[in-house]
Amino acid sequence: MSENPKSSRGYFATKAGIIAATVGSAVGLGNIWRFPYECGQGGGAAFLLCYIGFIALLGIPVICAEFILGRAAHTDFFSCFERLGSRRGWPWMGLIGIVASLMIISFYSVVAGWAFEYLRLSLSGNLISTGNSQGGFGAYFATFTGSGYAIVIWTVVVLALNYAMVLGGVRKGIERASTIMMPLLGVLLVIMCINSLMMPGAADGLSFLFKPDFSKITWNVILGAMGQAFFSLSIGLGCMLTYASYFKDSAELFRSAATTGILDTSVAILAGVMIFPAVFTYGIAPTQGPTLVFEVFPTIFSKMAGGTIWAIMFFFMLALASLTSTISMSEISIAFFVDKCGMRRRMACILSFVLALAGGVICALSFTHLDWPVNFFNLFNNVSSNILLPIGGLLISVYTGHILNKKIFTEQLTNNGKLHGVPVGLLRFLLRWICPPAIAIILAMSIGLI
Ligand code: PHE
Repeated sequence: MSENPKSSRGYFATKAGIIAATVGSAVGLGNIWRFPYECGQGGGAAFLLCYIGFIALLGIPVICAEFILGRAAHTDFFSCFERLGSRRGWPWMGLIGIVASLMIISFYSVVAGWAFEYLRLSLSGNLISTGNSQGGFGAYFATFTGSGYAIVIWTVVVLALNYAMVLGGVRKGIERASTIMMPLLGVLLVIMCINSLMMPGAADGLSFLFKPDFSKITWNVILGAMGQAFFSLSIGLGCMLTYASYFKDSAELFRSAATTGILDTSVAILAGVMIFPAVFTYGIAPTQGPTLVFEVFPTIFSKMAGGTIWAIMFFFMLALASLTSTISMSEISIAFFVDKCGMRRRMACILSFVLALAGGVICALSFTHLDWPVNFFNLFNNVSSNILLPIGGLLISVYTGHILNKKIFTEQLTNNGKLHGVPVGLLRFLLRWICPPAIAIILAMSIGLI
């Protein structure tokens, strides 16, 4: 980490490090676990179409907005509004981000725990034989998630690993892990896609994913696609903002935002190309929700030559990809505790860990037979992505488009006029006039307000 003489905050050392960290945050279970099941429930191609539209029209502008605010203020989500001279009330918006980040890390670490368990099963050579149990892979997974005890342990392991990495500081922990793992995950996904394309159900899978049936587009599907776009890009909660507060002045904000958006969407589409041919080949229900891919993955591996080896590589990378995302989620509350509350970094990590642990255990137990009035896993998952992140994105757009000094906006995007060809006017237009009303209308329509 290079130290800035003026402050004790760390900085990402290189441009490649920035891309690796932001892509590392964006690419994770959101692409490989959440996208396929959301897409499956949202009617396939109809969902994908809305999703891509949201990435382009809302996602990339909002990443740019978060980058602008973060780098201009060099501080956390809460304090940045104070530092950029906002009207009263804005800093409280930072709290949405902190609440959302803690909700997300809670259920996310449970899913990461599933990936770790499947890595353990693959390493012990037993993954494929779980399909022989009555009801096959799907039933095995349901029994596992219902067991409670094992999942709680994995959730704790994931969180402990995460916070151990985070304690290592910004660059050491985050940059190094992301730079090595992300390209490898990409290569593995491409190989898995080729494998899926040779399955008998490939044509059906591809037409489900790419041939839209417009009658499937409902307000709920639109809301789901918007929520997924925010979740997958890690925006609306100040995650990219916090990362950008560690950017140097030479970082190119628009280019980094566009690269992150394109890579993240490509990984989601690759995951779809890997999953849906298998879904149609083996008669698995695409609409079953969060359990979908944990039934599909083992099914795929059980049919591949050398399946166990592929499974080991795949779950290893999935586990790591999820860690590069949890690292970025925890950084939001940590930066807040350090920058706003004046805590030492170690203390901030411990506090964030304790909060995440409490949420994680509650989510981990949501699949057991405990008689709770709500399923916290589903609640945290849906409320954060479909409500909190879009509201955060809306407020970020309004602030950056309407309240932030236009000069700061332009200077940040063009690095004080040094960069040419950045669509500054278009981005500002989208942030001012497209993002806020679009998000507001979708939220209002889907909760039945209009
Ligand atoms: N974007 C991450 C993923 O797709 C999840 C995430 C959400 C990370 C919000 C940080 C903040 O897996």
